[in-house]
Amino acid sequence: MERQEKLKINGLGAERNLKGTVYISGAKNAALKAMAGAVLFDGPVELHNVPDTADVRTIVEIMTKLGARIESKDDVLTIDPNTITNTDIDRKLAGNIRASVMLTGPLLARYGKTTFPAPGGCVIGCRPIDLFLNGYRKLGASVVEHDELFDIKDGNFHGGEIFFDKVTVGGTETLVMAATLAEGRTILYNCAMEPEIVNLVEWLNRGGAKISGAGTPTITVDGTAGKLLKPVKYEAIPDRIEAGSYLILGALIAKELEIKDCEPEHLRAVVSILSDAGVKINVDDKAKTIVVSNDNAKNYTPLNDIRTHEYPGFPTDLQAPLTVFATQVNGKSAIFETIYENRFKYVEDLVAMGANIRAISERDVEVNGPTTFKGTSEISPGMIIPARDIRAGFAIVMAAILAHGESTISNVHLIDRGYEDLAGKLKGLGVELERISN
Ligand code: EPZ
Repeated sequence: MERQEKLKINGLGAERNLKGTVYISGAKNAALKAMAGAVLFDGPVELHNVPDTADVRTIVEIMTKLGARIESKDDVLTIDPNTITNTDIDRKLAGNIRASVMLTGPLLARYGKTTFPAPGGCVIGCRPIDLFLNGYRKLGASVVEHDELFDIKDGNFHGGEIFFDKVTVGGTETLVMAATLAEGRTILYNCAMEPEIVNLVEWLNRGGAKISGAGTPTITVDGTAGKLLKPVKYEAIPDRIEAGSYLILGALIAKELEIKDCEPEHLRAVVSILSDAGVKINVDDKAKTIVVSNDNAKNYTPLNDIRTHEYPGFPTDLQAPLTVFATQVNGKSAIFETIYENRFKYVEDLVAMGANIRAISERDVEVNGPTTFKGTSEISPGMIIPARDIRAGFAIVMAAILAHGESTISNVHLIDRGYEDLAGKLKGLGVELERISN
């Protein structure tokens, strides 16, 4: 049974004048794909700036079970794929982490076969993998599903043409990796354009892949016809979702919060939305630093018709933190979730803590502010609020920090999946909190 840890947070109430610096870690959603991509290389590869989060540790476990030799030292992972002897992804381990499906592309590219469990959906939506499977079929593989296990063979891919019916980040990355060693050219249309994809492809190309168009809707892969890539160092880009989360939090609680080691270029949408609401933000592209202050918090204006969108639009992974921001501004805000069908479950928890949020539909909420949050212990002694997923968990932490009184949050392991050293970074800003395990 996983150790169930909780966070106890002593809310700031009206005293919101913290000062401090937070250093942004490497992007989880970049590093996880590079770990899978290591399979395409002929020998050990060094992955740098890899965050020490639960998802990274799970992928290490899954790849070790396949036979890969992995060493980790500080934020450097060295993965040797040449010792892999098995391409069947562990059902139990893969069941609770969607990123495991990323491994199927490289495994198929190199070994021509793999089996893996249908990745568990999660609270934000059913998150099917039909786009991955259709892509594999287009490249010549046979896909058979029996008792929730996918068995894919004939993966020594020839080239092909794939049109993604929906923009899919993981689908784009995984099919690009699947096509990297193929015989011939593969063209992928309607691709995602996230910076994590550019980060991955730039590395693969340095290893000898021939991929063009990353960061645009059309990506062309000229396969190496089975030739493995030459090991070269990978460096994960800064985590734009972690940086955006602290930026939104800082806009509410900090006299001055300095966000360092971030990539401001990847945060244009959230900086624009917060600035339009009256938040004081200073961006220094060269210094990779953003400074935010809540000096003008009393005059923040509502967010009119925010819609989450694929990159470079406003990211769905910041929707929950932004909803908490909307509870603190003067007036009515509207937030629409375009990407997932069920990503507002945490709203009921915010309402229980004092927010005034009305669900228009499963994808659409109306937030009236400003409202004050009450700590769970003020609402009822012993009350505990659960983190429902990585980003909703950060949103509940934000509400607890803003609240009057103490709060207890459970399922902290979910938050750990996407935020390295959350407690340490928040304590460094002066937030009074502690992790407790029962
Ligand atoms: C990545 O998930 C991120 N995860 C998610 O971050 C992020 O929310 C998402 O991209 C969108 O930006 C990682 O990179 C590990 P998609 P991914 O394929 O690749 C549907 C976080 O908090 N879809 O772009 O799984 C899907 O259901 C996580 O860090 C299909 O229908 O997302 C969703 O509605 C949460 N069929 C939409 O497409 C498929 O085969 C976008 O999903 C694949 C996806």
